[in-house]
Order: sequence, then C-alpha cells, then structure tokens
Amino acid sequence: MSLLNRPAFAASTLPTLIDALVEQGWFIGENFLDAELCYDLHRELAQMAERNALAAAGIGRGDEHQLRHDIRGDAIHWLDRESLAQRRYLEAMGELQRELNQALFLGLFEYEAHFAHYPPGAFYKKHLDSFRGRANRVVSTVGYLNPDWPADGGGEMVIFSDDDSEREVARVRPEAGNFACFLAERVPHEVLPTRLARASIAGWFRRNASLGGLVDPAR
Ligand code: OGA
Ligand code: MN
Repeated sequence: MSLLNRPAFAASTLPTLIDALVEQGWFIGENFLDAELCYDLHRELAQMAERNALAAAGIGRGDEHQLRHDIRGDAIHWLDRESLAQRRYLEAMGELQRELNQALFLGLFEYEAHFAHYPPGAFYKKHLDSFRGRANRVVSTVGYLNPDWPADGGGEMVIFSDDDSEREVARVRPEAGNFACFLAERVPHEVLPTRLARASIAGWFRRNASLGGLVDPAR
C-alpha cells in the first residue's frame, strides 16, 4: 500500500465520531491520527517556523481581517498540498467529508485548513468558528501534532456548552494524534495559554455561501 493510501485514521472510529457530533455537537478522539503522519506534519511546521515562513493569524475575513494579539497569538500557513504529508492529511479529511455528507446530509463541499504554530505564551480566546453574517463554515476540525506533550505544557483546547458558553464540557491536550471535530457555528472553544511551542492543524468543512453576485471570500 502506498503512503498516500495508508489511512490517516481508522475508518472504524467514524460511527463514534458521527454519533458524537449528532448527540453533543463535538467529538474528541485520542490517538485518532496516524503517528507517523503527525510526526511528518510536525517537522514540516517546525521547519516553516524556523524559516519565518508563517504569517501572523488574524480574525475576520476579507476586508474585516485584522491582527489582534490580545485575541489570538498563533502564526499560520494554509495547507497547499506541497508535501506528501499534507496530501495525506487532506485525503483523510476528504474521506471524513464524504462520510459526514452521507450520514448527515450536510452538503459540505470543500475543506480548508491551516497549520498553526503557537509560540510559548500564545492563546486563542473563546470564539465560534463561523464568521458573522455567514454560516459557511459548518464543521471544524483540529488535528494535534506535538509528541510527548507534558502534563504541565498548557495549550489545551477547552470546549464549552453550546447553550451555556460559560460551562466547560471538554478539554483536549495538544498531544500528537489527538483530533477534535465540532459544529463550527454552535460550539464555543478556546486555546489556553501554552507554555511550550504548540503545533496543530485547524480546518473547516464549508458549504458554499456565495449568493447572487456576491462571492464568498475564500478565507
Ligand atoms: C482555530 C482554533 C484550536 C486549536 O484556529 O479556530 O480554534 O486547538 N484552533 O488549535
Ligand atoms: Mn476555532
């Protein structure tokens, strides 16, 4: 089996993922992603960070885009299929997209994702992933890439209840292989300050929200 065909996650976990999305709006899988794939993606992101090839992440889209270090402190690079590892990750998300569409009729039609590097001290305050006035980001995914993340490393992603955004319902450690998936418009979440450099891939399944002559901006 070629590397590209080797599954990046076990298909047997999909029914659990889909049930969790339906029942509670979110899913967390530990050891969900293939270890070797996480290793390759982590190395690729570390090299980009060393070369200063990452861009400071902002909030808002199109004309509303702005840098707000008081809200988020990560630096990003959009996946562009440049490496085999990126292609494997995107293939796997394509598979997940097909499964979600079949099981839930979500009409997801594309996926976008970026590497995110959180330097020590960085965080991302509580937010929803869909932009104001547009509901085009339907399902969010986060894949974690950090091998041997220590218990006191910080940088957990906290998930809050969709009907009481003050109530914490789950926490994900950014340990390599962990994977989170949730409803983008409904599930508030936050990244706690990290003590160590922290690597993840955040991605979104989208519905096309272009209306009439108004083109939905890509990002
Ligand atoms: C995001 C996000 C979470 C994480 O980029 O929107 O919430 O754990 N990321 O990296
Ligand atoms: Mn988010």
